[in-house]
Amino acid sequence: MSDTSNEPSLRTLRSSDGISLSGSVRVPGDKSISHRALLFGSIAEGLTTIEGILPSEDPISTADCLRSMGVSISPIVKGQVVSIRGVGLDGLKEPEEVLNCGNSGTTMRLILGLLVGRKGRHFVLTGDASLRRRPMQRVGQPLKLMGASVEGRSNGNFAPLAVSGKKLRGAVIGTPVASAQVKSALLLAALTAEGSTTVIEPAHSRDHSERMLKAFGANLEIVGEIGRQIRVCPGAILTGQKIIIPGDISSAAFWLIAGALVPGSEITIKNVGLNPTRTGILEVMQKMEAHIEIINLRDIAGEPVGDINVKYTGILKAFKINEEMMPRLVDEIPILSVAALFCNGETQITGASELRVKETDRLAVMTRQLKAMGADIQEYPDGLTIKGPQSIKGCALNSETDHRVAMSLAIASMLAKGTSTLQGGEAASISYPEFWEDLEKLQTRTNS
Ligand code: S3P
Repeated sequence: MSDTSNEPSLRTLRSSDGISLSGSVRVPGDKSISHRALLFGSIAEGLTTIEGILPSEDPISTADCLRSMGVSISPIVKGQVVSIRGVGLDGLKEPEEVLNCGNSGTTMRLILGLLVGRKGRHFVLTGDASLRRRPMQRVGQPLKLMGASVEGRSNGNFAPLAVSGKKLRGAVIGTPVASAQVKSALLLAALTAEGSTTVIEPAHSRDHSERMLKAFGANLEIVGEIGRQIRVCPGAILTGQKIIIPGDISSAAFWLIAGALVPGSEITIKNVGLNPTRTGILEVMQKMEAHIEIINLRDIAGEPVGDINVKYTGILKAFKINEEMMPRLVDEIPILSVAALFCNGETQITGASELRVKETDRLAVMTRQLKAMGADIQEYPDGLTIKGPQSIKGCALNSETDHRVAMSLAIASMLAKGTSTLQGGEAASISYPEFWEDLEKLQTRTNS
């Protein structure tokens, strides 16, 4: 069991040893959709309301940046509907201060796309130490093809970044990586460019921007093969919407794996977003022959949503993940690497080099932390190989400031023999502020 005291930095995590996880849980709102609702609502005309927003640090960074540019956004508080008074496509004011994107790559990359076309206005963006090390040229470079001016350290690759707003021209742009952040930045820039813009992705990344921009009234069309080409024609006025955000499958992932692996467990995760560009973990769990069932499948505000039931069923099968699948489960690799330790056979994760430029180098950090628990893992430039089943032991762990690492190590600790300590568990609050409370609740219920 975990120690739920408010001790900020060091947590004691005990092995599950006879304790299973059971009951139902509602994970917080989808992080990707939360950012987009705030951004698109701000440049729409009229009122946008958002129900189910993720009340955590990353969306709060996005909201604070938008407020600095004159948008009125009500406080982001758990359980409260957020209201935005949109300022229209050209209404964002030049901020008097540096825009601080905190730990959030989505905030920085999407806001870059939003700002580059604001002619005559000047913006400076920065973030925390992790964000200042993450590559921004992947956004700045294609935006330059539209006439944008983005400067920063290392030839524009690292924040702090300076943007001089320019009149942009539409273009046909092939993105270098299958990244929804890069794609979304280009779509946002395209809204105010001269002429149409077509974005062509190497693989189909999450499509929340496309769905939501269309709902706001943008002139956006999906052309060509399996959603990989998106064309935006400027000129359409965006109109405020009522948005309902489902739970984040990337947060549900921790309970999916814990429920499948901790003996005796059965968990129902309610209200989870099941957009097919995000459900790679369910594909993998089917290959593992885990017992998962989707119930109450429905459509809410343009996104598929359902409840997921997961049950422990004994030893599972090893799996393979390749580059083609990566965009559909990119944020789930840390928890899937924990799962692989307990599966029978050799798990191979390839095409995962993007993990090296997330909040931390997640391939290196997960390898380091799981090795400290005694795991046998081979790390390659673009992935991991893990032979299972193996047993791991409790030890001194560190999230290395990464939210998804913190939560993955919590589940690993339950599956280990003996007690672990976790430094930096508070990082979980970046995407799942109540993770530790939910872990405790799911555990205590079976004890009662
Ligand atoms: C996100 C896209 C993904 C993901 C990130 C959120 C988004 O990043 O890892 O957590 O909201 O667009 P990339 O688009 O860079 O792959």
